[in-house]
Amino acid sequence: MPLYLDPDELRDQAPGPHLDLIGTMAFRAAGAAQRLGVFEALLDGPLPVTELAARTGTDAGALPVLLDALVSFGYLDRLPDRRYAASPMAAVLDRRSPWSYAPALAFWQDLLGELWDGLEETVRTGRPQADFYGWLESRPRTLREFQAMLDGMATGLAPLVAAAAPDPGERLLDVGGGHARYSIAFCQAHPRLTATIVDLPEALRGGRARIERAGLGGRVTAVPGDVARADLGAGHDTALLFNLCHGFDGPGNRALLARVAAALRPGGTVLILEPFADLPEGTPPVAEAFTRAFSLNLAVTQGGRIYSFDEVAGWLAEAGFGRIERHAIDGPSELLVARLPGAERTPETDAERTPESGAERTPETGADAARTRGEDG
Ligand SMILES: C[S@@+](CC[C@H](N)C(=O)[O-])C[C@H]1O[C@@H](n2cnc3c(N)ncnc32)[C@H](O)[C@@H]1O
Repeated sequence: MPLYLDPDELRDQAPGPHLDLIGTMAFRAAGAAQRLGVFEALLDGPLPVTELAARTGTDAGALPVLLDALVSFGYLDRLPDRRYAASPMAAVLDRRSPWSYAPALAFWQDLLGELWDGLEETVRTGRPQADFYGWLESRPRTLREFQAMLDGMATGLAPLVAAAAPDPGERLLDVGGGHARYSIAFCQAHPRLTATIVDLPEALRGGRARIERAGLGGRVTAVPGDVARADLGAGHDTALLFNLCHGFDGPGNRALLARVAAALRPGGTVLILEPFADLPEGTPPVAEAFTRAFSLNLAVTQGGRIYSFDEVAGWLAEAGFGRIERHAIDGPSELLVARLPGAERTPETDAERTPESGAERTPETGADAARTRGEDG
């Protein structure tokens, strides 16, 4: 939708639900255009309908109906010579950019079309109506789009997270780290670090290739398995649970955090990256609306939701973690840091452990500089 139109002007033209109806149709039409290859064809330059129909294998009578709708929605422009062109808004769908929105559009198109029918039943019963990861594992194309979408988000966030996190020590466990972007960023920032990623078999496919491309095959190991049952190993210095807890219900998270605690050494650290339901002050309305919608999606497809910081901190305390800190990262995603009791680690001892790392915490990059709350547990 051309969201850049003045919302007050839009409201004067139609009631809100009517605008939502158009938005739903626009999203569906954009998804169809993407599946048919319309954007891909037009991103290389404007085309007349006949040529576009030939390239996309579509009907030259029906195609302009879709194209004219997409002009209204802001995705396409109609030129004076009657050719159609991708608008600046459609440029974000160019897959050649690492920031492309194309994987997100394709993934959400499949998900909303197939898994949201059970929404009322979820709210009525409190139970999910789908097995999201089972569904994904049986849909290789959607899984690829999902992983590409996560990878795109992690590309921007990983360096910020690696800089804000305390020194990870020498052994990292990345629980649900399939695409490997975070393990790679931590290993690149800390030359003595080795990492073990545990994720579902299909989710690791792209991660393995990325590890090899980064030249980290000797330091990052990908282990297929269900994190609720797989052997997570023992004696790790740090565990990452990034965007994972929101997919589990309360008992699932308690069990998971107890398993993670058992896989860490005494004094080990867990890092949780998620949006929390109590969003940072000043979160823009679009980010807040998406976070609430995403929480609804988690409820219907996985039996999870976006939890408050205190809920997650409570589960961590039950699992034996303390010194719980909360750090702003970027947008709604925040980093929670918690430690098991045991051998104390300080910036000085960290520096001694990794003298060549070049990634020691400074007051500006480390935990001390970030927003710190909920100092209990
Ligand atoms: C939302 S993604 C987050 C990926 C990555 N940690 C990040 O922050 O970008 C959740 C990841 O956890 C994995 N996952 C979810 N449930 C799992 C389970 N029961 N066992 C193993 N992996 C699981 C998924 O395959 C996926 O790669």
